[in-house]
Amino acid sequence: MQSLTAYPKHPLSGTCRVPGDKSISHRAVLLGALAVGTTRVTGLLEGEDVLRTIAAIRALGASAEKDSDGSWRIDGVGIGGLSEPDDVLDMGNSGTAARLLLGVLAGHPIRCFMTGDHSLRSRPMDRVAIPLRQTGAVIDTREGGRMPLTVVGATDPLPITYTPPVASAQVKSAVLLAGLNAPGQTTVIEHRPTRDHTERMMGHFGADLHIEETADGTVITLTGQPELTAADIDVPADISSAAFPLVAALLTEGSAVTLPGVGLNPGRAGIVQTLRDMGANIEESNPRTAGGEPVCDLVVHPGQLRGIEVPAERAPSMIDEYPVLAVAAAAAEGHTVMRGLAELRVKESDRLAAMAAGLAACGVAVEEGEDSLTVTGVNGVPAGGNNAPVETHFDHRIAMSFMVLGTVAAAPVTIDDGTAIATSFPDFIDLMNGLGADIRAGGADADETP
Ligand code: S3P
Repeated sequence: MQSLTAYPKHPLSGTCRVPGDKSISHRAVLLGALAVGTTRVTGLLEGEDVLRTIAAIRALGASAEKDSDGSWRIDGVGIGGLSEPDDVLDMGNSGTAARLLLGVLAGHPIRCFMTGDHSLRSRPMDRVAIPLRQTGAVIDTREGGRMPLTVVGATDPLPITYTPPVASAQVKSAVLLAGLNAPGQTTVIEHRPTRDHTERMMGHFGADLHIEETADGTVITLTGQPELTAADIDVPADISSAAFPLVAALLTEGSAVTLPGVGLNPGRAGIVQTLRDMGANIEESNPRTAGGEPVCDLVVHPGQLRGIEVPAERAPSMIDEYPVLAVAAAAAEGHTVMRGLAELRVKESDRLAAMAAGLAACGVAVEEGEDSLTVTGVNGVPAGGNNAPVETHFDHRIAMSFMVLGTVAAAPVTIDDGTAIATSFPDFIDLMNGLGADIRAGGADADETP
């Protein structure tokens, strides 16, 4: 446990390149491991979550090495070419690593054991186990579909058609990854679109994917057993990480912050749209493409925000950004109502409960519903902490959100533990402090609290 305190600091300025996109990094490692040849990845996120995926593909017989120029070389074994690991695969804190890898393993006739940390062992794995069993894989979980689990992949995997009951890119991706080693067509039907990094990257490696918008939703069809050919990937900066300095800069008068090379896949850009709907001035400059993904530089101009009703159907495109949006809402004028958030209860922590409790402890008016959060902002500078550390439940996004609150509030905010931040944004403190924030280890100094 390492407590951290963010002291109020105004303004923030400078250019801040946040680390590579976590979702894209996991996929680059997994698909690189299944391709034939060497995939060179630049900008790979070296957070603990992605390092778990790297450790897993190494244990399964592929190789991943970092070169002296900072890029990674993934030497793939070809679809179906992974071999049985001689130990348990430990996916740490990462639901994405666990669920996507399960999809890969379902298409390999090998026996694997998979576990994770306390948080991951409490998260639902049935959402991927149920469709993957239809391909012929045998997946045995603990009570309630929890890890640790055993997976014995199918010898002759079957192609399936599946409509996920929840809007989840992880479920869609697991089914498509299993479909890589199945003959014929694997189809996923999505009623609500989710991030499409898997589809884009499979296409980049030469897979045959057909995507069609129908009255029923988006129909994604993968033709199985393609030859995946290694291809270089330039990972964009992660919008989910950029959201923290972005919100901090928006809320501190006189700030001038640029966030270069941020991925703005439409399935991820909901936070930018929502902040704009609240009155934020966020400029997009230098639009380009990197690794098959739309990318641009974000230039943040601070200003007063107003509360809004965030459309529930936007949730999948900003699902990881609600915690920091709630911080923005605390400074906005009036109510911000966020609905359709049931999925937040099964993330690294119950994020609805964690945000509601932490915000209330910091003097923010907040109401937690079954699947909603309503924050009433103060139309200015929120109060901040009261010395008692906010409980973060080993959740990186909760931890960083409260460090943003401390940066923009009237009083410092302390969190009980910042170690989870390394799962997705290892340089968070240095990058924020480089912009002028003041985040330090330990509790709040007595002479700096009101
Ligand atoms: C992710 C999808 C989202 C997101 C997670 C990363 C991915 O989860 O919350 O952080 O990389 O596919 P769901 O697919 O479960 O919504």
